[in-house]
Amino acid sequence: MKDTLFVNIGRLAGILPQGIRKLCGKDMDTVRSLDNAYLLVRGGKIASFGKMEDVPSVSSDVFIEDLSGKMLMPAFCDAHTHIVYAGDRQQEFVDKINGLSYEEIAKRGGGILNSADLLHSTSEDSLYGQASQRLEEMISKGTLTMEIKSGYGLRTEDELKMLRVIRRLKENYPVTIKATFLGAHAVGREYTGRQEEYVDLVCNEMIPAVAAEKLADFVDVFCDEGFFTVEQTDRILKTGVRYGMRPKIHANELAVSGGVQVGVKYNAVSVDHLERTTDVEMEVLKNSDTMPLMLPGASFFLGMPYGRAKDYVAAGLPVALASDCNPGSSPSCDMRFVMALGCIKMRLTPEQSFNACTINAACAMGCEDVAGSITVGKKAGFIATKKVMDLGFIPYFHQTPFIDRVLF
Ligand code: NIG
Ligand code: FE
Repeated sequence: MKDTLFVNIGRLAGILPQGIRKLCGKDMDTVRSLDNAYLLVRGGKIASFGKMEDVPSVSSDVFIEDLSGKMLMPAFCDAHTHIVYAGDRQQEFVDKINGLSYEEIAKRGGGILNSADLLHSTSEDSLYGQASQRLEEMISKGTLTMEIKSGYGLRTEDELKMLRVIRRLKENYPVTIKATFLGAHAVGREYTGRQEEYVDLVCNEMIPAVAAEKLADFVDVFCDEGFFTVEQTDRILKTGVRYGMRPKIHANELAVSGGVQVGVKYNAVSVDHLERTTDVEMEVLKNSDTMPLMLPGASFFLGMPYGRAKDYVAAGLPVALASDCNPGSSPSCDMRFVMALGCIKMRLTPEQSFNACTINAACAMGCEDVAGSITVGKKAGFIATKKVMDLGFIPYFHQTPFIDRVLF
């Protein structure tokens, strides 16, 4: 964003002091705001903000933008997406309507393996074209910081193809993107019945190749019933860490998997899904710097239980929410919808859900120093809403357009 002075901001919402990395427990209850405000952006970062009566005078090279009483809030952060995929899985959508479960579809060789087949026969350019359309949809819906995973390759070359597409997205869009290597999303078709050998491939060939091109910030594993065991996950995370990738993890979506514990053991930046957690996982997380991240869009789409976000907050833990945007379990990248599900289905207050979709989501991908709040020094990236509104309006009237412009 060029140097800009925003004036006449009706309400500036989502303010945090410098140095706050995440909000835990009761601290999630509040969203600070300032009415009749200005905000100055210099060098792409928030330089200052305050009451309109204190607006600074600026040189003529600074662009002045009159928000005429509208609300300005930080853009959403989405810390768990799979937006690089080829085609879609519409037939499985119908199969699910007709009664097949996600697990049954996977056991038949569909699901993630279906996406891997499609991706294999898709060129890198075509994949880039499809992914960039999805990224543009995310941006239009107010998300400017996002994590994107590989995991539909399941062969070394195809995993690299996906990660190179993510690198091109990073290069071509002025948003903040983190890349995650998820070679252990499913066992590749060629390795059916030879799961240990597939884990060898992930550790001995894929991770070194990904690291050699510096293609991933994080390493992820689908540690769940029917996918990867705790022991296999341990090996993969250990190898990833050795190659400089911090873990994230898919855990407890289909069963209480032990994935939270192994994630915390390797200081994962987040443990994701958590549809089936018990109190034990909460205790483990209390003594860690790992963010519990829940994906209500997957619960909605697959008819699974929702994560126990309210209990986590009551226990003094932080909670982040993300879209999980993917063609199999959550075909939506709309963080406003995620915020609404956080309120309607997980009984978070609008403030808690907002914090889960902004600052805590930023922390769940190591971006809390650049995104997730109105804070001096953070990267400029905002949603200007159509009018001043209580935050509760956003999840309450959850289908009514509320974004006037996404500014970045
Ligand atoms: O986060 N659970 C595993 N991975 C994705 C789904 C991927 C797919 O079905 O394509 C998820 O839900
Ligand atoms: Fe996922």
